[in-house]
Amino acid sequence: MPQKRLAVLFSGQGSNLESLLKTLHRYTFNGTTLNVVLTLTNKPTAGGIEKSRSYGIEPVVIDHTWFESREAFDGAVVEAIHKAQVDLVVLAGFMRILTPVFTQQVNAINLHPSLLPLFKGANAIKESYEAEVKEAGVSVHVVSEELDGGAIVLQEAFVKEVGMSYEAFEAKIRAIEHQLLPKAVIKLLC
Ligand code: GAR
Repeated sequence: MPQKRLAVLFSGQGSNLESLLKTLHRYTFNGTTLNVVLTLTNKPTAGGIEKSRSYGIEPVVIDHTWFESREAFDGAVVEAIHKAQVDLVVLAGFMRILTPVFTQQVNAINLHPSLLPLFKGANAIKESYEAEVKEAGVSVHVVSEELDGGAIVLQEAFVKEVGMSYEAFEAKIRAIEHQLLPKAVIKLLC
């Protein structure tokens, strides 16, 4: 049976890492079995570390503050990815601006909490909540040299209800993310 190997990179609480582990890891879709063989974080205090351990996967920690340049950090991350021989890298809340050292050597997708090309960057949820737009949503895109700029793999939108609280808005985005990212992985690999 064909097997595909995944790496998941994260920086924070790791709710998307958890949803990937829960819904994809060791499951078979259309005859292809998916295995998360590498989890990696740049934050030694990231909540996702414990989530990964609870699935028996000890994360690799590569703290970006150990490095003098973005390129040197990316080089270390790329080395860990190559060692793990993965088919796809999933950025699930990996909050780093990546250099060509990464983008030219790694086949990766990124989860972003807005309807790209709107609201690129690190504050997308707040910006799309505050903006006068009728719809918000989530994107999964191919990682390219342009920040949040690669080809869209999947997008899902929802209507911003009048008077919606920020908490409800964020919860809606997170609920969509937890479905959309696994779907995108299956779309690409299975
Ligand atoms: C997610 O909302 C993801 O879309 C966002 O970080 C969060 C990570 O949550 N990523 C970006 O903003 C990328 N620019 P998690 O740690 O619970 O998965």
